[in-house]
Parts: sequence; C-alpha cells; structure tokens
Amino acid sequence: MMALLTDSMALARWRDSCRQRGGAIGFVPTMGALHAGHLALIQAARQQCAHVVASIFVNPTQFGPNEDFSRYPRTPEADRELLAGVGCDAVYMPEVGEIYPEGFQTAIRVEPLTLDLCGRSRPGHFDGVGVVVTILFNRVRPDVAFFGLKDYQQYQLIRRLVADLAMPLRVVGVPTVREADGLALSSRNRYLDGEARVRATALYRGLLAARQAWRAGERQVAVLERVARDVLERAGIEAVDYVAVREAQTLRVITSFTESMADPVMLMAVRVGGARLIDNMVLSREDGAGLSL
Ligand code: PAJ
Repeated sequence: MMALLTDSMALARWRDSCRQRGGAIGFVPTMGALHAGHLALIQAARQQCAHVVASIFVNPTQFGPNEDFSRYPRTPEADRELLAGVGCDAVYMPEVGEIYPEGFQTAIRVEPLTLDLCGRSRPGHFDGVGVVVTILFNRVRPDVAFFGLKDYQQYQLIRRLVADLAMPLRVVGVPTVREADGLALSSRNRYLDGEARVRATALYRGLLAARQAWRAGERQVAVLERVARDVLERAGIEAVDYVAVREAQTLRVITSFTESMADPVMLMAVRVGGARLIDNMVLSREDGAGLSL
C-alpha cells in the first residue's frame, strides 16, 4: 500500500520508519497531472533507492499573475493510482498553508543562471521553484532527488542551489520521455488541439536538425540556431520565445568552441495553440547519455 501523507507530521513519521529500516530515501517532486515522464523519475528512484516518495503540490509562487495556475490540470486520484502502479512507497500532498505558513517572507534567487531563457519571459518563476524545492527538501530530507532533463534550466538551477547551499543530498537528472513522434511529454500537452499537436512535433525535429548539423561539423552558434528555427518556421510556429545554444552546465552564452569546451545544449521555448512548450537537447550526445550533466 502506498502511504498518503497530507501533512508534515505524517511525512516525518514515514521518514523515521524508513530511517529505522535503513537504505536511501529517493524523492520526486511534481505538480501532479502525472504522465509517463514523471513515472520515469519514479522508476529511476525505485532503481536507486530503498524508499521512494513523490510530492504533488501545484506551487503558486512559480506561476506568474497571467499564467495557468488556476487552470493547471489537477488529477489527484489518477495520480495516486499511477504512482502506486510504478511502486512508489509514499506520496506527500501538502496544503498551501503547510508549505507557505502565515508570515512567510524568504526568497531564493539563483542568478545569473535563471535570468535568461525561460527566466526572461517568466520573471519570478525560478525563484518560486527554488524556494518550494528548498522547503520540500527540508521537509522530506531525501538522500537523492530526481529531476527531468526536460526542464533543463530548472535542473541546472537545482544542481546549483544544492551545491551552493551545501544541501546534503544528491541530484539525479533523468532523460526526457517522448511520444513516438518526438514530442516531449508534458502536462501542458493536453492544451494542444489536433492541428497544434501536429505542429508541436517541430520542436524535436528542430533539435534533431541542429544536432545533425553539429555532427556534420557546424560550430557557429548562430547557424545551429538558424537550422532549428527554420524547422519551427516551416511548421508554421511563429511565436518562438527563444532558440539558444548554451554551455550545458552554466547555460552561459558560447562565443566560440574550443577543445576544452563543455557540451553545448540547445534549448527552445515556443507557443503553440494555447500552450507554451519547451524542449532541449545536448547536441554533442545521444539522448539520455551523460545523466550527471
Ligand atoms: P512538473 O512539471 O510536475 O514536473 C515534475 C518533474 O517531472 C520535473 O523534474 C520535470 O522535469 C519532470 N518531467 C516532466 N516531463 C518530463 C518528461 N517528458 N520526461 C522526463 N521528465 C519529465 O517541474 C515541476 O513540476 C515543478 O517545477 C517542481 C520541480 C515540482 C517544483 O514545483
């Protein structure tokens, strides 16, 4: 039976019983509306940890005033069934007041990492992610936490946060789970209607085209970006927020490639139909290779 933990007391009791039995606690934070991408994180945790706990919390502080907080999909019963089905041991579903008690006023900023890319069009978003993940880590106190590479800037933010604040846990990145046609699984894909759903495949095709160019020896950032943009434009995607090739760990702008250069990652964000979609690919690697990026 999967344990349902709705408050921090129940969570603490569950954690103490795990500690008594021994073995690592693996943690997968989510906002629910679970799909196979989330479940891949649970499965990775299941493989590496004796105890696996997921959280479901639609975090208000990471949504902007005009974003989709109120219409963000909420499917708690289905989520619990899916989690139990992949062998998750416990799910923590706190109320807002437990995460943000009255009088809450602490901020977490990881800059410059979060100022650009998605941070530019979603001001405050990553501050909200940083603060909620810190609170969740302090409540759960996991040994290992699992994040999807799908949200690449978020993944690098968490790595930076954990290193900078000497948080006593390990962060693992899990490769992006995709539909058969390449579209990265996302809770927001349900906003796509038939025609927009078809156009949305251009993100992955654009990334593949850029990686192909990289493999053929192309080393000019502007050209690599153009290759991907062309694919998006040909598919009729006009609302491109960004297409950028960056240094894979720091997400810094690359001015020129040198021998010692770390891997380049291409990141993109577009609007299709009513949805804002993101995707990324490390151009110098196979999908899923180099998980500890
Ligand atoms: P959410 O969007 O629910 O995603 C939870 C985790 O699932 C994240 O680590 C995300 O990268 C991962 N994920 C989503 N789609 C994926 C896919 N197709 N393949 C692999 N992993 C995927 O990200 C958040 O929630 C929140 O910002 C959170 C970290 C929970 C803080 O509120």
